Amino acid sequence: MIKSSRVCLKYPEGTIALKNIDLRIEPGELVYITGPSGSGKTSLLKLFMGDEYPTAGVLEVLKQPIVRGQAAGIRKLRRLIGPVFQEFRLIKGRTAMENVMLGMRFLDVPNGSMKENAGNALAKVGLAQKAFSLIEHMSWGECQRVAIARAIARKPALIIADEPTGNLDKDNAVRILELLKSFKDRETTVIVTTHATHLIRDEKDFRHIHMNNGNMEWERLG
Ligand SMILES: Nc1ncnc2c1ncn2[C@@H]1O[C@H](COP(=O)(O)OP(=O)(O)OP(=O)(O)O)[C@@H](O)[C@H]1O
Ligand SMILES: [Mg+2]
Repeated sequence: MIKSSRVCLKYPEGTIALKNIDLRIEPGELVYITGPSGSGKTSLLKLFMGDEYPTAGVLEVLKQPIVRGQAAGIRKLRRLIGPVFQEFRLIKGRTAMENVMLGMRFLDVPNGSMKENAGNALAKVGLAQKAFSLIEHMSWGECQRVAIARAIARKPALIIADEPTGNLDKDNAVRILELLKSFKDRETTVIVTTHATHLIRDEKDFRHIHMNNGNMEWERLG
């Protein structure tokens, strides 16, 4: 699923965000990434989605090498990923349903199935009754669930969620992690960054990467 060997990421203005990242993530895994602000969590996810390229080392996601000059391959890879961004990236002036459907653009889903997938995804995140509400009329937590619905409606092989527990109280954070976890299955890998290390301590069947100043290590919990 994801193979990374000595991957580094240095941004053009000089910040070294990731240092010698070696990892292997298998299909169907649940992986949490924790670490302080600025430690490289979002940068790592950007590499997985082909939004940035390694400046050293070798990275492959779903067999697609993440390197410059592979635009077509990387576009194809992105169709297999359901991203939930730190800032959601929902479109105002559109309903929850429309936003979820916009997430399926470029996926070759027939129009009829698109509506059905979107409706099902909104139901899975508990927002069936808000499907036709405008984004600007929804609460922060609801917007977050719309963003998750948009990701899962794509029926992705890889779900990537960046800090979905930020701004949530403990109960809601636990609920969101449970929800994301529920989408993991044999073919679907789920990768979630979170500041809330204490919330994942009691969970089972996951692996945990801790980031620190661009370095990563696998953590053992419990
Ligand atoms: N586009 C960019 N250009 C230059 N530097 C960047 C860019 N994006 C992030 N950085 C820097 O790279 C480092 C890692 O940032 P990153 O966003 O990956 O951290 P993070 O762990 O996701 O933090 P947070 O928990 O606050 O979201 C930081 O020093 C940050 O300032
Ligand atoms: Mg981040």
